[in-house]
Amino acid sequence: MSVQIKSVAVIGGGTMGNGIAHVFAMNRIPVNLIETKQEFADRAMATIEKNLDRMVAKEKIDVETKDAALNSISVFLDLRKGVKGVDLVIEAVPENLDIKKSVWTAVDEAADAHTIFASNTSSISITKLAALTKRPDKFIGMHFFNPVPVMKLVEIVNGLDTSEETYKVVEETSRLLGKTPVPVNDMPGFVSNRVLMPMINEAVFAVYEGVATPENVDQVMMLGMAHPMGPLRLADFIGLDVCLDILNVLYDGFKDPKYRPCPLLIKMVDAGKLGNKTGEGFYSYS
Ligand code: 3HC
Repeated sequence: MSVQIKSVAVIGGGTMGNGIAHVFAMNRIPVNLIETKQEFADRAMATIEKNLDRMVAKEKIDVETKDAALNSISVFLDLRKGVKGVDLVIEAVPENLDIKKSVWTAVDEAADAHTIFASNTSSISITKLAALTKRPDKFIGMHFFNPVPVMKLVEIVNGLDTSEETYKVVEETSRLLGKTPVPVNDMPGFVSNRVLMPMINEAVFAVYEGVATPENVDQVMMLGMAHPMGPLRLADFIGLDVCLDILNVLYDGFKDPKYRPCPLLIKMVDAGKLGNKTGEGFYSYS
Protein backbone atom coordinates (compact mmCIF):
# COMPACT_ATOMS: atom_id res chain seq x y z
CA MET A 1 0.00 0.00 0.00
CA SER A 2 1.41 3.38 -0.93
CA VAL A 3 0.10 5.23 2.12
CA GLN A 4 -0.67 3.31 5.27
CA ILE A 5 -3.35 4.59 7.61
CA LYS A 6 -1.70 4.66 11.04
CA SER A 7 -4.22 6.84 12.86
CA VAL A 8 -7.80 7.91 12.33
CA ALA A 9 -10.25 10.50 13.63
CA VAL A 10 -13.93 9.56 13.81
CA ILE A 11 -16.29 12.52 14.05
CA GLY A 12 -19.52 11.60 15.84
CA GLY A 13 -19.98 8.87 18.45
CA GLY A 14 -23.55 7.83 17.58
CA THR A 15 -24.56 4.36 16.38
CA MET A 16 -22.36 4.43 13.28
CA GLY A 17 -19.50 6.50 14.71
CA ASN A 18 -18.98 4.35 17.79
CA GLY A 19 -19.13 1.21 15.63
CA ILE A 20 -16.49 2.63 13.26
CA ALA A 21 -14.23 3.63 16.19
CA HIS A 22 -14.73 0.11 17.61
CA VAL A 23 -13.50 -1.69 14.47
CA PHE A 24 -10.44 0.56 13.98
CA ALA A 25 -9.43 0.28 17.65
CA MET A 26 -9.95 -3.49 17.63
CA ASN A 27 -7.54 -3.67 14.69
CA ARG A 28 -4.92 -1.66 16.56
CA ILE A 29 -5.30 1.59 14.66
CA PRO A 30 -5.43 4.49 17.19
CA VAL A 31 -8.64 6.52 17.07
CA ASN A 32 -9.42 10.11 18.02
CA LEU A 33 -13.15 9.99 18.77
CA ILE A 34 -14.62 13.48 18.39
CA GLU A 35 -17.88 14.48 20.05
CA THR A 36 -19.53 17.79 20.91
CA LYS A 37 -20.24 17.05 24.59
CA GLN A 38 -18.59 14.90 27.26
CA GLU A 39 -21.88 13.06 27.97
CA PHE A 40 -22.14 11.98 24.31
CA ALA A 41 -18.52 10.83 24.34
CA ASP A 42 -19.12 8.89 27.59
CA ARG A 43 -22.15 7.22 26.03
CA ALA A 44 -20.16 6.27 22.93
CA MET A 45 -17.33 4.79 25.02
CA ALA A 46 -19.81 2.83 27.16
CA THR A 47 -21.39 1.37 23.99
CA ILE A 48 -18.00 0.41 22.57
CA GLU A 49 -17.05 -1.28 25.84
CA LYS A 50 -20.38 -3.17 25.95
CA ASN A 51 -19.95 -4.38 22.36
CA LEU A 52 -16.31 -5.40 22.97
CA ASP A 53 -17.48 -7.31 26.08
CA ARG A 54 -20.05 -9.08 23.92
CA MET A 55 -17.23 -10.16 21.57
CA VAL A 56 -15.11 -11.36 24.51
CA ALA A 57 -18.08 -13.37 25.82
CA LYS A 58 -18.46 -14.98 22.35
CA GLU A 59 -14.67 -15.67 22.33
CA LYS A 60 -14.20 -13.62 19.16
CA ILE A 61 -11.52 -11.53 20.88
CA ASP A 62 -9.57 -11.90 24.14
CA VAL A 63 -9.58 -9.52 27.10
CA GLU A 64 -6.15 -8.10 26.14
CA THR A 65 -7.50 -7.11 22.70
CA LYS A 66 -10.50 -5.48 24.34
CA ASP A 67 -8.32 -3.52 26.80
CA ALA A 68 -5.88 -2.48 24.05
CA ALA A 69 -8.79 -1.34 21.89
CA LEU A 70 -10.30 0.79 24.65
CA ASN A 71 -6.89 2.30 25.47
CA SER A 72 -6.27 3.23 21.85
CA ILE A 73 -9.34 5.50 21.70
CA SER A 74 -8.79 9.13 22.76
CA VAL A 75 -11.79 11.39 23.19
CA PHE A 76 -11.70 14.96 21.84
CA LEU A 77 -14.34 17.65 22.32
CA ASP A 78 -12.39 20.05 20.08
CA LEU A 79 -12.78 19.02 16.44
CA ARG A 80 -9.75 20.96 15.22
CA LYS A 81 -7.43 19.33 17.76
CA GLY A 82 -8.93 15.90 17.12
CA VAL A 83 -8.25 15.86 13.37
CA LYS A 84 -4.70 17.26 13.61
CA GLY A 85 -2.00 14.77 12.66
CA VAL A 86 -4.20 11.80 11.67
CA ASP A 87 -4.03 10.03 8.29
CA LEU A 88 -7.78 9.52 7.81
CA VAL A 89 -10.82 11.45 9.02
CA ILE A 90 -14.19 9.64 8.94
CA GLU A 91 -17.26 11.79 9.48
CA ALA A 92 -20.36 10.13 10.94
CA VAL A 93 -22.45 13.13 12.05
CA PRO A 94 -26.25 13.35 11.45
CA GLU A 95 -27.53 13.30 7.85
CA ASN A 96 -28.03 17.05 7.68
CA LEU A 97 -26.24 19.02 4.99
CA ASP A 98 -25.80 22.14 7.17
CA ILE A 99 -24.15 20.13 9.98
CA LYS A 100 -21.92 18.32 7.48
CA LYS A 101 -20.99 21.61 5.81
CA SER A 102 -19.79 23.21 9.04
CA VAL A 103 -17.91 20.05 10.04
CA TRP A 104 -16.11 19.62 6.71
CA THR A 105 -15.21 23.30 6.42
CA ALA A 106 -13.54 23.18 9.85
CA VAL A 107 -11.85 19.83 9.18
CA ASP A 108 -10.45 21.07 5.87
CA GLU A 109 -8.79 24.01 7.63
CA ALA A 110 -7.40 22.03 10.56
CA ALA A 111 -6.27 18.71 9.08
CA ASP A 112 -2.79 18.00 7.70
CA ALA A 113 -2.36 18.30 3.94
CA HIS A 114 -1.89 14.54 3.44
CA THR A 115 -5.05 13.51 5.34
CA ILE A 116 -7.74 11.57 3.48
CA PHE A 117 -11.36 12.56 4.15
CA ALA A 118 -14.19 10.00 4.22
CA SER A 119 -17.88 10.49 4.91
CA ASN A 120 -20.10 7.69 6.20
CA THR A 121 -23.13 9.42 4.69
CA SER A 122 -25.89 7.08 3.53
CA SER A 123 -27.52 9.56 1.19
CA ILE A 124 -25.75 12.88 0.66
CA SER A 125 -23.70 13.24 -2.52
CA ILE A 126 -19.99 12.59 -1.97
CA THR A 127 -19.19 14.94 -4.85
CA LYS A 128 -21.15 17.72 -3.11
CA LEU A 129 -19.38 17.14 0.23
CA ALA A 130 -15.98 16.91 -1.49
CA ALA A 131 -16.60 20.31 -3.10
CA LEU A 132 -16.79 21.86 0.40
CA THR A 133 -13.08 21.10 0.79
CA LYS A 134 -9.93 22.04 -1.08
CA ARG A 135 -9.04 18.38 -1.62
CA PRO A 136 -11.84 16.67 -3.60
CA ASP A 137 -9.24 14.17 -4.91
CA LYS A 138 -8.70 12.99 -1.31
CA PHE A 139 -12.43 12.81 -0.49
CA ILE A 140 -14.37 9.52 -0.60
CA GLY A 141 -17.45 7.78 0.82
CA MET A 142 -16.85 5.00 3.36
CA HIS A 143 -20.34 3.65 3.98
CA PHE A 144 -20.44 1.20 6.90
CA PHE A 145 -23.48 -0.85 7.93
CA ASN A 146 -25.19 -1.26 11.28
CA PRO A 147 -24.11 -3.05 13.47
CA VAL A 148 -20.65 -2.02 12.24
CA PRO A 149 -18.66 -4.64 14.20
CA VAL A 150 -20.77 -7.39 12.58
CA MET A 151 -21.57 -6.32 9.02
CA LYS A 152 -18.89 -7.20 6.47
CA LEU A 153 -19.57 -4.55 3.84
CA VAL A 154 -17.94 -1.17 3.31
CA GLU A 155 -19.53 0.48 0.28
CA ILE A 156 -16.78 2.73 -1.04
CA VAL A 157 -18.23 5.66 -2.92
CA ASN A 158 -16.08 7.44 -5.48
CA GLY A 159 -16.98 11.09 -5.99
CA LEU A 160 -16.45 12.78 -9.34
CA ASP A 161 -12.88 13.83 -8.44
CA THR A 162 -11.81 11.05 -6.05
CA SER A 163 -8.34 9.90 -7.08
CA GLU A 164 -7.38 6.30 -7.76
CA GLU A 165 -4.72 6.64 -5.02
CA THR A 166 -7.35 7.65 -2.42
CA TYR A 167 -9.57 4.74 -3.46
CA LYS A 168 -6.71 2.25 -3.13
CA VAL A 169 -5.74 3.44 0.37
CA VAL A 170 -9.34 3.27 1.60
CA GLU A 171 -9.93 -0.10 -0.04
CA GLU A 172 -6.87 -1.61 1.64
CA THR A 173 -7.75 -0.01 4.97
CA SER A 174 -11.22 -1.60 4.79
CA ARG A 175 -9.61 -5.00 4.23
CA LEU A 176 -7.33 -4.44 7.25
CA LEU A 177 -10.50 -4.02 9.30
CA GLY A 178 -11.70 -7.43 8.12
CA LYS A 179 -14.35 -5.86 5.89
CA THR A 180 -15.12 -6.43 2.23
CA PRO A 181 -14.91 -3.19 0.24
CA VAL A 182 -17.21 -2.80 -2.76
CA PRO A 183 -16.63 0.19 -5.06
CA VAL A 184 -19.58 2.17 -6.38
CA ASN A 185 -19.97 5.54 -8.05
CA ASP A 186 -21.64 8.56 -6.52
CA MET A 187 -25.34 8.47 -7.45
CA PRO A 188 -28.36 8.99 -5.16
CA GLY A 189 -28.58 6.13 -2.64
CA PHE A 190 -25.36 4.61 -4.04
CA VAL A 191 -26.21 0.89 -4.54
CA SER A 192 -27.13 -0.18 -1.00
CA ASN A 193 -29.91 2.28 -0.31
CA ARG A 194 -31.11 2.45 -3.91
CA VAL A 195 -31.99 -1.23 -3.59
CA LEU A 196 -32.85 -1.45 0.13
CA MET A 197 -35.08 1.61 0.57
CA PRO A 198 -37.59 0.83 -2.22
CA MET A 199 -38.00 -2.63 -0.63
CA ILE A 200 -38.64 -1.08 2.80
CA ASN A 201 -41.01 1.47 1.22
CA GLU A 202 -42.99 -1.30 -0.52
CA ALA A 203 -43.25 -3.15 2.80
CA VAL A 204 -44.73 0.02 4.35
CA PHE A 205 -47.16 0.31 1.40
CA ALA A 206 -48.25 -3.31 2.00
CA VAL A 207 -49.21 -2.36 5.58
CA TYR A 208 -50.75 0.97 4.46
CA GLU A 209 -52.94 -0.79 1.89
CA GLY A 210 -54.00 -3.48 4.39
CA VAL A 211 -52.30 -6.32 2.54
CA ALA A 212 -50.76 -7.67 5.76
CA THR A 213 -49.72 -6.73 9.29
CA PRO A 214 -46.12 -5.61 9.94
CA GLU A 215 -45.43 -8.97 11.62
CA ASN A 216 -46.71 -10.89 8.59
CA VAL A 217 -44.85 -8.75 6.05
CA ASP A 218 -41.65 -9.43 8.01
CA GLN A 219 -42.40 -13.16 8.33
CA VAL A 220 -42.79 -13.42 4.54
CA MET A 221 -39.38 -11.87 3.93
CA MET A 222 -37.61 -13.74 6.74
CA LEU A 223 -39.00 -17.20 6.05
CA GLY A 224 -39.45 -16.91 2.28
CA MET A 225 -36.32 -14.94 1.39
CA ALA A 226 -34.03 -15.76 4.34
CA HIS A 227 -33.61 -12.13 5.39
CA PRO A 228 -32.15 -11.98 8.94
CA MET A 229 -34.81 -9.43 9.93
CA GLY A 230 -37.91 -8.36 8.04
CA PRO A 231 -37.95 -4.99 6.24
CA LEU A 232 -40.16 -3.28 8.84
CA ARG A 233 -38.09 -4.45 11.82
CA LEU A 234 -35.04 -3.31 9.82
CA ALA A 235 -36.67 0.07 9.14
CA ASP A 236 -37.20 0.48 12.91
CA PHE A 237 -33.56 -0.52 13.49
CA ILE A 238 -32.25 2.01 10.92
CA GLY A 239 -34.68 4.74 12.06
CA LEU A 240 -37.85 5.68 10.17
CA ASP A 241 -36.64 9.28 9.87
CA VAL A 242 -33.41 8.07 8.24
CA CYS A 243 -35.40 5.85 5.84
CA LEU A 244 -37.62 8.80 4.91
CA ASP A 245 -34.62 11.11 4.38
CA ILE A 246 -32.98 8.57 2.07
CA LEU A 247 -36.20 8.01 0.08
CA ASN A 248 -36.49 11.77 -0.36
CA VAL A 249 -32.90 11.89 -1.65
CA LEU A 250 -33.77 9.15 -4.19
CA TYR A 251 -37.04 10.87 -5.16
CA ASP A 252 -35.42 14.30 -5.56
CA GLY A 253 -32.29 12.93 -7.20
CA PHE A 254 -33.97 10.83 -9.90
CA LYS A 255 -37.27 12.73 -10.18
CA ASP A 256 -38.89 9.33 -10.54
CA PRO A 257 -42.24 8.62 -8.78
CA LYS A 258 -41.19 5.04 -8.07
CA TYR A 259 -39.22 6.41 -5.07
CA ARG A 260 -42.13 8.40 -3.54
CA PRO A 261 -42.23 7.72 0.22
CA CYS A 262 -45.36 5.94 1.47
CA PRO A 263 -47.75 8.37 3.27
CA LEU A 264 -47.76 6.00 6.28
CA LEU A 265 -43.98 6.37 6.63
CA ILE A 266 -44.32 10.18 6.52
CA LYS A 267 -47.12 10.09 9.09
CA MET A 268 -45.13 7.91 11.50
CA VAL A 269 -42.13 10.23 11.27
CA ASP A 270 -44.43 13.24 11.85
CA ALA A 271 -45.76 11.50 14.96
CA GLY A 272 -42.23 10.97 16.29
CA LYS A 273 -42.50 7.17 15.98
CA LEU A 274 -39.00 6.66 14.64
CA GLY A 275 -38.37 3.01 15.60
CA ASN A 276 -35.97 1.55 18.20
CA LYS A 277 -34.52 4.93 19.19
CA THR A 278 -37.88 6.39 20.28
CA GLY A 279 -39.27 3.10 21.63
CA GLU A 280 -41.94 2.83 18.94
CA GLY A 281 -42.13 2.34 15.21
CA PHE A 282 -43.75 -0.61 13.43
CA TYR A 283 -43.04 -2.44 16.70
CA SER A 284 -42.99 -1.36 20.33
CA TYR A 285 -39.67 -1.46 22.21
CA SER A 286 -40.77 -0.33 25.65
N1 3HC B 1 -21.24 -5.40 18.29
C1 3HC B 1 -20.63 -6.59 18.29
N2 3HC B 1 -21.30 -7.76 18.01
C2 3HC B 1 -22.62 -7.69 17.77
C3 3HC B 1 -23.32 -6.45 17.76
C4 3HC B 1 -22.56 -5.28 18.04
N3 3HC B 1 -23.13 -4.07 18.03
N4 3HC B 1 -24.62 -6.70 17.46
C5 3HC B 1 -24.74 -8.02 17.28
N5 3HC B 1 -23.53 -8.62 17.46
C6 3HC B 1 -23.21 -10.04 17.28
C7 3HC B 1 -23.79 -10.95 18.34
O1 3HC B 1 -22.92 -11.06 19.45
C8 3HC B 1 -23.95 -12.26 17.62
O2 3HC B 1 -22.71 -12.95 17.56
P1 3HC B 1 -22.65 -14.55 17.25
O3 3HC B 1 -22.99 -14.71 15.81
O4 3HC B 1 -21.25 -14.91 17.56
O5 3HC B 1 -23.67 -15.16 18.16
C9 3HC B 1 -24.31 -11.82 16.21
O6 3HC B 1 -23.85 -10.47 16.06
C10 3HC B 1 -25.79 -11.88 15.97
O7 3HC B 1 -26.44 -11.10 16.97
P2 3HC B 1 -27.66 -11.61 17.86
O8 3HC B 1 -27.54 -13.08 18.14
O9 3HC B 1 -27.79 -10.71 19.05
O10 3HC B 1 -28.95 -11.32 17.02
P3 3HC B 1 -29.34 -11.76 15.56
O11 3HC B 1 -28.85 -13.12 15.22
O12 3HC B 1 -30.78 -11.45 15.50
O13 3HC B 1 -28.54 -10.72 14.63
C11 3HC B 1 -28.26 -8.69 13.50
C12 3HC B 1 -28.66 -9.34 14.80
C13 3HC B 1 -26.77 -8.90 13.25
C14 3HC B 1 -28.55 -7.20 13.65
C15 3HC B 1 -29.09 -9.36 12.34
O14 3HC B 1 -30.45 -9.35 12.64
C16 3HC B 1 -28.89 -8.68 11.01
O15 3HC B 1 -27.91 -8.93 10.31
N6 3HC B 1 -29.85 -7.80 10.63
C17 3HC B 1 -29.78 -7.02 9.40
C18 3HC B 1 -28.91 -5.82 9.65
C19 3HC B 1 -28.79 -4.96 8.44
O16 3HC B 1 -29.38 -5.19 7.40
N7 3HC B 1 -28.01 -3.90 8.59
C20 3HC B 1 -27.85 -2.91 7.56
C21 3HC B 1 -28.75 -1.77 7.83
S1 3HC B 1 -28.67 -0.56 6.57
C22 3HC B 1 -27.41 0.45 7.03
O17 3HC B 1 -26.81 0.31 8.08
C23 3HC B 1 -27.04 1.50 6.04
C24 3HC B 1 -27.69 2.82 6.25
O18 3HC B 1 -27.25 3.67 5.22
C25 3HC B 1 -29.20 2.83 6.28
